[in-house]
Amino acid sequence: MTTRTALLRTGAATALAALSLTALPQAAVADPGTTPPGLAKQDTLRWNAPKDFHIGSAVAGGGHHTTADYPEPFPSDPRYRSVLAAEFSSLTPENQMKWEFVHPEPGVYDFGPADDIVDFAEANGQVVRGHTLFWHSQNPDWLENGDYTPEELRAILKDHVHTVVGRYAGRIQQWEVANEIFDDSGQLRTQDNIWLRELGPSIIGDVFRWAHEADPEAKLFFNDYNVEGTNAKADAYYALIQDLLAQGVPVHGFGMQTHLGLQYGFDGRMQANLQRFDDLGLETAVTEMDVRGPVGADGRMSEELRQKQAEWFRSALSACLAVEDCNSFTVWGALDEHSWVPNTFPGYGDALTMEGDYERKPAYYALQRTLAEAGPGGAARLAHHPALRR
Ligand code: G3I
Repeated sequence: MTTRTALLRTGAATALAALSLTALPQAAVADPGTTPPGLAKQDTLRWNAPKDFHIGSAVAGGGHHTTADYPEPFPSDPRYRSVLAAEFSSLTPENQMKWEFVHPEPGVYDFGPADDIVDFAEANGQVVRGHTLFWHSQNPDWLENGDYTPEELRAILKDHVHTVVGRYAGRIQQWEVANEIFDDSGQLRTQDNIWLRELGPSIIGDVFRWAHEADPEAKLFFNDYNVEGTNAKADAYYALIQDLLAQGVPVHGFGMQTHLGLQYGFDGRMQANLQRFDDLGLETAVTEMDVRGPVGADGRMSEELRQKQAEWFRSALSACLAVEDCNSFTVWGALDEHSWVPNTFPGYGDALTMEGDYERKPAYYALQRTLAEAGPGGAARLAHHPALRR
């Protein structure tokens, strides 16, 4: 039994009690038809989560949302905000802290949307994952197409890290500092990634050092997709992190994005893989989970595939809960309608845990039940909780 399950949680009530009631409209928390009013707040993901475990969502905005047929969800949709506040204890800006958003022109920073998310999280007793500082994608044109010397680029990156991390010092729990720096064969992206191309691999340690200078409290992570199983890419991170730790670089965590497709398999080595990073003394996290499948004209996959999807969510969450310092599990959005998947993989979707009118899918209940089993009272509590007996 891990320390997590041994410590069984009594703190979920404390977490919700800390919610700002003014910031939490009482909508969409539970289905009043099945949940007695007094228990509605308990019928959420965050209520059921173990005390020191964060269940999170990406905050929809920017990226593919800018060309969608709905207004930006986070600033404009009160119901969406209420569900984010009620269901999740961790938030990740989906796009709003990326370079193209916060640093649109040389020397010009725009923190409006990112500030709103951090303020909202604080008002609702949530932690924030910062995303991201060092990536090959969503960089502004002025940077990618600028004619900078290596010395100038180094100064630009240092200023960005100090400015962005420093702005939120003490308010961001975990930073996904370096994102997707290896390809699937385990080679550093020395062509795609401007920093690796122009400044060489030693810049990786510098970025972590600069982030640590700007916020000594924040836990600093690597983050990538296709690293859930033990494979060439995960092995490359394992070797790099060992090397950086030996040099005294402040690396604190490894995040598995966990963007899965039902046409592929679920890698049963996920727990063992999380464990080997944990054994290095790191925290680990599931940072962006979704599970896509082939969909019909209605945007849904078959019920059979939805059950399989639910099982994969349960398996990934269980793997994380079983590893002592896997402390955070984030889904890459709350609603299917907001997901990046159909935009990038036409014909695929239905990848998240709620649809349409915040209707909960089997995947939602798989997460809620798995959290409840690990939370205070475990299975005995489940037996007495009307909402959780579904
Ligand atoms: O930059 C182009 C622009 O030139 C073009 O005119 C426009 C037309 O559609 O597209 C713009 O690119 C968009 C990009 O965001 C930049 O804002 C893409 O279409 C759009 O698909 C993209 O979406 C974001 C994507 O990251 C970018 O890689 C998604 O909203 C966001 O959910 C997604 O999130 C990433 C994580 O950050 C890292 N891990 C993978 C995850 C899913 O891809």
